[in-house]
Amino acid sequence: MVGASIQAKLDGQGRLYQQIYRAIKGDILSGHLGHGEKLPSIRTLSADFGVSKSVVQAALECLTADELIHSVHGSGIFVTYNLQTKKQPLKKNAPEQDASVAGKPAPAISNFSKAMEDENPHLIFLQRLRDPKPQYNLEYGTPVASAALRTKWSKAMTLAARLDGEKYAEAAGEISLRTEIARYICKSRGIGCNPEDIIICNGAQQAFDLVSRCLYTDQASVAFEDPGYFNARRTFHANGYKIIPVPVDESGMQIERLLDLSNPNIRLACVTPSHQMPLGSVLSLDRRQMLLAWAARNETVIMEDDYDGEFRFGSRYIPSLKSMDEHDNVIYIGTFSKTIFPSLRLGYIIAPERFRTHLLNAKTVSDLGTSALLQKAAAIFIHTGGFAQNLAATRKAYAQCRNALITSLKQSGRNLKIVDGAAGLHVSVLFPEPISDRIVPLTNALLSRSVSLHDPRDYFFEKEACNMLIFGCTQIDKTDAAESVGLIAEEMARHQLC
Ligand SMILES: Cc1ncc(COP(=O)(O)O)c(C=O)c1O
Repeated sequence: MVGASIQAKLDGQGRLYQQIYRAIKGDILSGHLGHGEKLPSIRTLSADFGVSKSVVQAALECLTADELIHSVHGSGIFVTYNLQTKKQPLKKNAPEQDASVAGKPAPAISNFSKAMEDENPHLIFLQRLRDPKPQYNLEYGTPVASAALRTKWSKAMTLAARLDGEKYAEAAGEISLRTEIARYICKSRGIGCNPEDIIICNGAQQAFDLVSRCLYTDQASVAFEDPGYFNARRTFHANGYKIIPVPVDESGMQIERLLDLSNPNIRLACVTPSHQMPLGSVLSLDRRQMLLAWAARNETVIMEDDYDGEFRFGSRYIPSLKSMDEHDNVIYIGTFSKTIFPSLRLGYIIAPERFRTHLLNAKTVSDLGTSALLQKAAAIFIHTGGFAQNLAATRKAYAQCRNALITSLKQSGRNLKIVDGAAGLHVSVLFPEPISDRIVPLTNALLSRSVSLHDPRDYFFEKEACNMLIFGCTQIDKTDAAESVGLIAEEMARHQLC
């Protein structure tokens, strides 16, 4: 394996080994050099930086002592530090304080910024984007982008560019796209609505932010699935909410536990009812009814994140919660991240009318509207059938891969407990006790065998409680499923996970 390149430049402050230490450290902390990545050799580094090998060696010793890197005899030097799991590297061995912060007082920052300081979501996200993907990618998330999708999307973009796509869109979004969504969402998710009821936003992520900002009152709490989607949880946390974790099981969020809570500050409950993220279960009918009744009784709101509701693989129809909501308490969030691709950053909110103006105000001050060009292209893409064709093709491919994955997991002879909600883009395997201490060794061992698995600890309110693995089925084909599950089963056994 060829070593990664060092991006940061020497800052000219202090001794050379200190500068090299800071340059490499900067690349590691920014995610440019990801966990497990191999550093260039000492010889290459000394040539690149124009210094002697002993100077490089001194810098590497400091980085090793800080637990940022480690060397493997005969193989090279690798990045130890994992942005997802560590908060701060040790500072004790830094040759001197970082020049960038030296002598400057800590800036006064808002509660919003403070709330995110612990985890630094942008670094976690950066790391995830930069992690190299090996031969067998079983990470959850990115849908497949076929040649057909790219061709049809390019055509839609070309047409959109001729349609005044350069002008600002309304804050609520382009009427052409809202019309297409209203038609589609009625057919596919049973939600009867008009284009006026829809607000287009930059992915589900912006919807979480707008909703959490508009509903926030002093000391607000939010009931959140545990485990649950960390990007939504972080948004509520950043916006000042106290997160109240509510456990999930194979029938979704345990609504009985929600009903037991006596916290009067709960403003809303956030759920992924069609396919619980990450467990993969479907919220049962009786729990749906209990949840809707809870919201009606307490004048609370339900935020339904229907991120992959289009992907159902059994004969069972899974209605959206919004379509069952007789009291108008559900804020529905949809996204094109799984059905087209995530870089579009296109999602939508269907909210009760009483929230609409507030959401539109928030959307306006946030960004003056989502890209009109992309919205027009998406409307054309849906209208001309590209969307439906892509959905049909991906549903078929994911169904095959899911089936192959589940079959291989069952046949692995490891007696694994598989949660199969017959929906969504991943399946999960549950363990009788927490496995968080074995996840990094397991994923590292798998990486060295060309298999990548998503680290699911972030989903847990208490990361140590993580007792599952999740297997994405969008980035491998059915023929690779058996091979990769074979390798995973072997490594699970080696790490005493089965
Ligand atoms: C639970 C959940 N909600 C929503 C999303 C989509 O977010 P966005 O539309 O911002 O890409 C994802 C993406 O992975 C997800 O896992």
